Amino acid sequence: MRLLVTGGAGFIGANFVHSTVRDRPNVAVTVLDALTYAGSRESLAPVADDVRLVEGDITDAALVDTLVAESDAVVHFAAETHVDNALADPEPFLRSNVIGTFTVLEAVRRNDVRLHHVSTDEVYGDLPLDAKDRFTAETRYNPSSPYSSTKAAADLLVRSWVRSYGVRATISNCSNNYGPYQHVEKFIPRQITNVLTGRRPKLYGSGANVRDWIHVDDHNRAVWRVLTDGGLGRTYLIGADGERSNLAVMRAVLRLMDRDPDDFDHVTDRAGHDLRYAIDPSALRDELGWAPEHTEFDLGLAATIAWYRDNESWWGPMKDTAEAAYQEWGR
Ligand SMILES: NC(=O)c1ccc[n+]([C@@H]2O[C@H](COP(=O)([O-])OP(=O)(O)OC[C@H]3O[C@@H](n4cnc5c(N)ncnc54)[C@H](O)[C@@H]3O)[C@@H](O)[C@H]2O)c1
Repeated sequence: MRLLVTGGAGFIGANFVHSTVRDRPNVAVTVLDALTYAGSRESLAPVADDVRLVEGDITDAALVDTLVAESDAVVHFAAETHVDNALADPEPFLRSNVIGTFTVLEAVRRNDVRLHHVSTDEVYGDLPLDAKDRFTAETRYNPSSPYSSTKAAADLLVRSWVRSYGVRATISNCSNNYGPYQHVEKFIPRQITNVLTGRRPKLYGSGANVRDWIHVDDHNRAVWRVLTDGGLGRTYLIGADGERSNLAVMRAVLRLMDRDPDDFDHVTDRAGHDLRYAIDPSALRDELGWAPEHTEFDLGLAATIAWYRDNESWWGPMKDTAEAAYQEWGR
């Protein structure tokens, strides 16, 4: 199989490429990535000899068409992804997430190539903290931020290209990922690298907000299940029953790093901060037989902490810039 992976130099995409090269020798991978601040060649260094990396933008229709025409399938990860950046400047989110997805859709339509579109549970908005209900594929779209609304727009484009043009596509909406190669702007790597660089960890508001954590490798195994056996036109929710408050995650990071679990700063909350995300992954489990392998959050978190300890050369160069942005936002 010739597989085109957009955004393959970012966090989830790079982990996807690593595991694909390791586990599927019959797959020839081409990565298309603009290498924005969030993507780096270094994330693909361990597989540099095994994949083709094309530096380019998913809004470049001619380039995308050429690469799609050479492929049997596309897994579309590329997006602007950081909610705080979206609040500060939404324009790149419109361009990459909406026009970029449109460009990919037009290329797979023209070339009749199978597409899997990677999306987020944030398209559903949030749930009350005290409720028991969870997101399903039928939950109404209700995005809160410029990030989640552009991802929602992209999902709707995919759905309509399936219906109107018969494009062979699937969608997955996943909960919050953790693992190696995640940018230090994101919650878990930010706290780990704050401790490693002698900064104080920072918690938004009271930390009551709940996220449903999944290890990036479990997400990527689910993406492969959907790509190979998912029903065309279907949406699958990916989650690993990993609900935890941000406060609980903060305390776990500090405990695993041998720090006082209360030794952090509370900072001003993010505007419109979603309260709770929770995924019902029944369709994926019951129909496609997927189950997460990283079921012990503390073990996955400890391994992630160890990866950041051992790979300062990867994250060190981005840390000061990321913290400067947070300082400007007062967070
Ligand atoms: N991180 C999560 O917890 C999470 C959860 C659910 C879904 N997702 C989705 O998974 C996908 C990947 O997320 P991530 O966390 O790896 O993001 P990331 O920000 O770490 O990586 C995004 C990658 O896309 C590339 N990119 C951005 N704009 C581009 C453009 N216009 N052209 C080409 N490449 C471009 C970047 O260079 C980067 O390599 C996104 O679609 C995101 O919405 C993420």
